[in-house]
Amino acid sequence: MIGVCREQEILPGYATPERCGRFLLDLNECPFPPPRAVVEALYSAGRYANRYPGRELFDRLKLLVADYAGVDVDSVAVFGGGDEGLRIVFDAFVAKGDSVVLTKPGFAMARLYAGIRGAKIVPVSLQEEGLRWTIDFNHLLEVAKKAKLVVIENPHNPTGSLLLTPGQVRELLVEAENAMVLIDEAYYEFAGVTVADLVKDYSNLLVLRTLSKAFCLAGLRVGYLLAAEETLKRVAQVLPPFTISRPSLAAAIKALEDRGYVRHVVGFVVRERERLFHEINKINGFKAYMSKTNFLLVKTPESVDVVGLALERGIRIKRVGDLPGSYVRISIGLRRANELVLEVLREAIAKP
Ligand SMILES: Cc1ncc(COP(=O)(O)O)c(C=O)c1O
Repeated sequence: MIGVCREQEILPGYATPERCGRFLLDLNECPFPPPRAVVEALYSAGRYANRYPGRELFDRLKLLVADYAGVDVDSVAVFGGGDEGLRIVFDAFVAKGDSVVLTKPGFAMARLYAGIRGAKIVPVSLQEEGLRWTIDFNHLLEVAKKAKLVVIENPHNPTGSLLLTPGQVRELLVEAENAMVLIDEAYYEFAGVTVADLVKDYSNLLVLRTLSKAFCLAGLRVGYLLAAEETLKRVAQVLPPFTISRPSLAAAIKALEDRGYVRHVVGFVVRERERLFHEINKINGFKAYMSKTNFLLVKTPESVDVVGLALERGIRIKRVGDLPGSYVRISIGLRRANELVLEVLREAIAKP
């Protein structure tokens, strides 16, 4: 075993061996634990674990999300994380044989759910343009017109690029009026760009967000959808009643009531992301792309196993497929982890 499992430190014997590593930079998590008040809310909720989570907790969370996202409370649905949100959208709007437009590369869960629903996947490949990745917007419009669902991660995972401007999303919603358009804003806080305000005007728009990233609550599984009230009525038909546990609801409510820490987290991550981006681009053979998220996509020399070398130093990063060439995705960690990443890349290139 390499390094020490964070999971093992907390729960002896419960570590998942494949995630062992001192520095977990493979899943785009927040490197900070949530604030003490959030952890205390989580803990206190345990006293009522014999009771199903009450409606009033869901209502309170929805109110806070509505306030945070600047939408009407009837435009909010909450559930157990962005992954579950994606599944719910597929369940509500996609039937066997329907066309679903997905980015390539793209977030793996969308492809998984499309497969489970028996949908026909229409991939839209991204192109490298200097230090970012772009989507052929005219091509997207063309295929979207014939689709049932269009899923665009904006900013995009794994490239980190913003693919669409709010103006382009508006055009997409008008041109593809018969398709549902899901804009996945999992990394919204790191980009500061949103189309949440459009849900009141377009009933074919769904905006997906999560508390897993900037809010540092990935372990609690809380996400939400923003959409027009009539659109959410269709979502409600496939949404089980108790999709978020009582402790997760309590913690999410506390996090949204006092979200000052999110600003600090985002400030830190963005500063470190920019520093890492510049430092990596100084290393021969590596290319980091500009990112609007909490991770960097990095092109690596074909001959170097960066994932393996990082693991030898106790760092987990992710290999990215679906792109021509060799790429890794590195989540932004705390300073020491980021320094170690730079060391690994510098040493990798110095190796004979
Ligand atoms: C683009 C995108 N959407 C959704 C998610 C799901 O987030 P979660 O299920 O943790 O809320 C992720 C997680 O990495 C993501 O990258």
